[in-house]
Amino acid sequence: MAKRIVIVSGAGIGIGRATAMAFARQGDMVYVTDILDAEGNAVAEAIRAEGGEAVFRKLDVTRTDEVDAVIAEIDREHGGVDVVVANAGIAHRVPLAELTDDKWDTTLDIDLKGVFRMVRAAAPRMRERRKGAVIAVSSISGMSYGWAEHVQYSAAKAGILGLVRGLAAELGSDGIRVNGVAPGFIRTAQSLSEQHSLGAAKLAAQAPSIPLGRIGEPEDVADVIVFLASDGARYISGQTILVDGGLTIRQG
Ligand SMILES: NC(=O)c1ccc[n+]([C@@H]2O[C@H](COP(=O)([O-])OP(=O)(O)OC[C@H]3O[C@@H](n4cnc5c(N)ncnc54)[C@H](O)[C@@H]3O)[C@@H](O)[C@H]2O)c1
Repeated sequence: MAKRIVIVSGAGIGIGRATAMAFARQGDMVYVTDILDAEGNAVAEAIRAEGGEAVFRKLDVTRTDEVDAVIAEIDREHGGVDVVVANAGIAHRVPLAELTDDKWDTTLDIDLKGVFRMVRAAAPRMRERRKGAVIAVSSISGMSYGWAEHVQYSAAKAGILGLVRGLAAELGSDGIRVNGVAPGFIRTAQSLSEQHSLGAAKLAAQAPSIPLGRIGEPEDVADVIVFLASDGARYISGQTILVDGGLTIRQG
């Protein structure tokens, strides 16, 4: 079987990094992309050190020109993208009283419009080839929870659910599946940020209220993304799957 070409945004650290590694370990070629040069290059190098295939490309998901250029390179050199993982995201703590238009736009531009830019660029060639899978990273904050002082994040992540459904409806007849994952509490720089999220102590304190009894690791999410891109998920489209250790179904 020909090697699939997978592009992952925000793949320098956290869930994106684990996802890039997971695809590479099962034999796919990975375009590791991020605004973080050193981290992104290190991920591509780590994949190559394991015998996998990866390149790093600097890509800011708020820049249409950068997104289009990297996808055009893949279309030109590899015939097209097989899998898009739109993972890049930020979560900034901003109380409503301080939520200026600019701050709102910054989060929406990365967390929601960034997903749209990736898919818009990859879709034409995917449609021509009549195949492809897209996985966007939402959050429990878009799916089930409200998050105080993060309303722009909650709105963006909820927006991903609608974007996934709309894209799945529009692209399905061309053989392209579009799904999302909604992580719960996952141990990454984002959730460990004292300023913008829970921080280490509060994150650890969540574990007892999670039915599976632990905070998630980036690999827990990466493996679900890999599954959604696989033939095993061939009849799943338009869904966003919670990956939260049972957190949101817990009663009492
Ligand atoms: N960690 C959690 O508990 C959790 C929970 C729910 C959802 N998520 C989501 O998972 C995704 C990955 O987050 P993470 O937890 O690994 O966080 P992280 O902070 O470790 O990683 C986020 C990545 O996105 C990149 N990024 C930020 N702005 C970018 C831009 N403009 N263009 C390209 N890349 C950009 C960062 O450089 C970084 O590599 C995000 O969408 C996040 O909202 C995380």
